[in-house]
Amino acid sequence: MRTQVAIIGAGPSGLLLSQLLDLAGIDSVVLERQSRAHVEGRIRAGVLEDQFQALLRRAGVGARMDAEGQIHDGIAIARGDRSLRIDLAGPTGGRRVCIWGQTELTRDLFAVREARGGAVLDEAADVALHGIGEERPWVTFRRGGVEGRIDCDFIAGCDGFHGVSRRSIASGRLETWERVYPFGWLGVLSETPPVSPELIYAGHARGFALCSMRSAGLSRYYLQVPGGTDPGDWPDARFWDELRARLPEAAAAALVTGPSIEKSVAPLRSFVAGPMRHGRLFLAGDAAHIVPPTGAKGLNLAGSDIHYLSAALIAWYGTGDTEGLEGYSERAMARVWKAQRFSWWMTRLLHRFSEDPPFDRRLQAAEFDFLAGSQAAQAALAENYVGLPY
Ligand code: FAD
Ligand code: PHB
Repeated sequence: MRTQVAIIGAGPSGLLLSQLLDLAGIDSVVLERQSRAHVEGRIRAGVLEDQFQALLRRAGVGARMDAEGQIHDGIAIARGDRSLRIDLAGPTGGRRVCIWGQTELTRDLFAVREARGGAVLDEAADVALHGIGEERPWVTFRRGGVEGRIDCDFIAGCDGFHGVSRRSIASGRLETWERVYPFGWLGVLSETPPVSPELIYAGHARGFALCSMRSAGLSRYYLQVPGGTDPGDWPDARFWDELRARLPEAAAAALVTGPSIEKSVAPLRSFVAGPMRHGRLFLAGDAAHIVPPTGAKGLNLAGSDIHYLSAALIAWYGTGDTEGLEGYSERAMARVWKAQRFSWWMTRLLHRFSEDPPFDRRLQAAEFDFLAGSQAAQAALAENYVGLPY
């Protein structure tokens, strides 16, 4: 089989890239290790920056997001019983985020690829990358017991943190930077009305909590838990009691509880690998970087990578211009590092770090006080939360 761009991974990065390339007349094949049903069923991110919303519209997958997603122009940041509303739209010239689950977005992307006859080969095992330093790289895989080979011009490594693409780069050619946090987030999805119309990021001496949502009848809540926590140790009643204990009083009183329909633990990590280009291989999204979810940046960074990468490939196929491909890594990484900084800052502001000496605890309190009293600090938070420019 021959294609122009072989794309590894059918998460948001891979599917969106294949769709944008297709709209520009460029052929691709997406190889996905899991089944389509598995990928569509994963509960992950929920907050989309306005530029990512615009990118999805351009890709022709904005209709359901625009009809059913919720536009938010503020968030709450709490500490104990104090709650602070951060205006997102005012200081950013009217920019807003959209609450639209990654699950829904992924369904729309699969559907549009199918409708346009795009090749998305799921349940592809043993994917291996070859010749990434050469002009004609190729990918091999096994599907339904049959060996396959795809010859291509470029390979896009969109296969997430545990994928094969990053590991295919010769050792010594890739630099990595990492910070692993000693805690994770226990997430619960429940068919209950959200506790508040806007997200609440709550810092508390017992640990961080987040109140988010997917729709008027579907809530998403998270609790900071120690690394290695088993969700089985958290029956629903324990989860709701702990959440109530960490929220400001008014929110705790308003919380509507019900049975959870999903419960899982995600570890927290900050990770960057660079450069994001090696010969004919381009890394994008979680394959190259992970942020702790506190700033809601993971999915949005996948979006900006794909914006840069799709534009670079389209320019190369259109006019032979190599500038976009040559500058891809630098451009994408500059934005990644700023989002890393913001995600780290939000994480530091709101989580309980059990190893923190009393001095650091006081600094954390002062950081919140400063934010509460400074329009400039609130504007900086808003600017980062709605997303730095592409
Ligand atoms: P992924 O979505 O990881 O997609 C990569 C795809 O590649 C997957 O479908 C995978 O099956 C496939 N793949 C992997 N290896 C191979 C292989 N060898 N061959 C073929 N295919 C392969 N972000 C937020 O902003 N907020 C959140 O609350 C949040 N929660 C998260 C919870 C979890 C458990 C995880 C893992 C991530 C979370 N994120 C969150 C991050 C966000 O979901 C990601 O940033 C986003 O999914 C990145 O998209 P991606 O397409 O780059 O990678
Ligand atoms: C979510 O709704 O899953 C969500 C929202 C905001 C975050 C992280 C996760 O910062």
